[in-house]
Amino acid sequence: MERQPGSLLLGTGRCVPDRVVPNEEFTATLDTSDEWIRTRTGIRERRYAGPADTSASLGTVAARLALQSAKVEPREIDMIVCASVTPDLMCPSTACLIQAALGCPPIPAFDVLAACSGFVYALSVADQYIRTGSAKKVLVVGAEVLSRVSDFSDRNTCILFGDGAGAAVLGATTDTKRGIHKIRLFADGSRQELIQVQSMVTPNPTPGPGSLPNLRHLRMNGREVFRFAVATLKQLVEDAREDCRALGKEVKLIVPHQVNVRIIDAALEDSDFPPDRVVVNLDRYGNTSAASVPIALDEGIRDGRCQVGDTILLVAFGGGLTWSSALITL
Ligand SMILES: CC(C)(COP(=O)(O)OP(=O)(O)OC[C@H]1O[C@@H](n2cnc3c(N)ncnc32)[C@H](O)[C@@H]1OP(=O)(O)O)[C@@H](O)C(=O)NCCC(=O)NCCS
Repeated sequence: MERQPGSLLLGTGRCVPDRVVPNEEFTATLDTSDEWIRTRTGIRERRYAGPADTSASLGTVAARLALQSAKVEPREIDMIVCASVTPDLMCPSTACLIQAALGCPPIPAFDVLAACSGFVYALSVADQYIRTGSAKKVLVVGAEVLSRVSDFSDRNTCILFGDGAGAAVLGATTDTKRGIHKIRLFADGSRQELIQVQSMVTPNPTPGPGSLPNLRHLRMNGREVFRFAVATLKQLVEDAREDCRALGKEVKLIVPHQVNVRIIDAALEDSDFPPDRVVVNLDRYGNTSAASVPIALDEGIRDGRCQVGDTILLVAFGGGLTWSSALITL
């Protein structure tokens, strides 16, 4: 009897812009210090897009590298799903721009918006298309230029974010021991005000005391998000490890959204999970929203921290609020 297809991770890629922005660059204009940023967040530097870089251009480079590592040609891709909160345009989608740049034939290409959970949401869409047999190979991209929506007069937020892109190619498999085992997705729009990036068509709230000079900037209640993030990450990891044990496997590597090293440490503090099996690169890139998980995933794979046959856990949370996890055997 023919087995239902599942989705295997065939390859990954990443791209960060050349410009390195160390913490010291903020001290000229803001009441902050390298020491404060390092000890409160774990971030030492981040990358900022150059004038010609966009989510689509960074995403295209990451996508090419993912296709190369998957040994898949652009013409073989059946669908592109891109996650971003900083698309080049509101229309067309960043996925369409990436499709054109890669020279893929006419295929479905669209964006999903789930903030920092965006890549795992996009992965779930790809996985569903593959499982139903509607697609055999899908390109999934997370790409951001958060420096373009950062408020450089707000020390609470601007120091946290960076730019970059990551990508993965998923392919159909009938091997039930490998591939995506389970994806969990959640959203709670009642807490929408905790992290926001205004769009050009949003009716802006009436300006007044306390309102920001430019409402298109990212706004965030850091302390509340911190609380949410620790509790959510802890629960996602516990639940996914239980799922993993039910499969007779152990999680080899956790690839969390790169948000704040204190959040990651606090969430895993009571668990017996070894800290050296958690990918942390936020010291070099900061929080790159939808690009954060695929960049960390690509680093983990290329550095040899996980190999074919290992089971890994992607976990993410962010604006929406949204949160998500994906349990995958490579
Ligand atoms: C933003 C964040 C780093 C702040 O750290 P914190 O330990 O919670 O700090 P607090 O918000 O309690 O602020 C403590 C003090 O530091 C100050 N502060 C904030 N940013 C600062 C900076 N860059 N430099 C120096 N001081 C700063 C605050 O103004 C506050 O001063 P006050 O006590 O005089 O009011 C932390 O809450 C965080 O990482 N939250 C998650 C944010 C995030 O990544 N969101 C994206 C979601 S996916």
